[in-house]
Amino acid sequence: MDYQNLAYALTQIVHNFGAVTVVGGAVFALAWPDTGVMRKLSWMVLAGWLAQALSGAMFGAISYYYYTALPDLFGVAIVALIVKVVCAALGVCLTVWQLLSQLSESTRRYTWLVLCCLGMLALSSAAVLRWFS
Ligand code: HEM
Repeated sequence: MDYQNLAYALTQIVHNFGAVTVVGGAVFALAWPDTGVMRKLSWMVLAGWLAQALSGAMFGAISYYYYTALPDLFGVAIVALIVKVVCAALGVCLTVWQLLSQLSESTRRYTWLVLCCLGMLALSSAAVLRWFS
């Protein structure tokens, strides 16, 4: 059993489900704007963004554990990674804001639209990171 591959695979599973959650949750909230459902979705999407940040950091930690070095990224790949980190940070902030504030219906809908765009941007950056690294 190659434990390095196992560690990467388990991390990737969390990362993939996190990606589905942040994009799918936001799309669902836009399609079904019911206040009770949206609150549950906010928690779910917050968990998704946190999972992305933690599993993303885990990729780096595994690499450091086995090679005492972070992945050798440069150029376009670094930009794509930074975009993902910024999307995750904004995603966490926006979902926490949704959960803590009494937002009007239109503001809430707007925040879901932004969250949806952030998810899609991060997902697109993942493809760029994958093929430019
Ligand atoms: C702090 C934020 C994040 C970090 C540090 C991070 C880091 C990483 C790393 C290191 C990889 C492996 C790249 C490779 O195979 O060369 C990866 C893959 C991936 N990430 Fe992230 N990520 C973050 C956020 C996100 C977000 C927010 C999404 C989507 C909403 C996402 C979606 C993906 C997907 C789909 C892959 C697999 C790409 C593939 O192999 O085709 N990531 N991420």
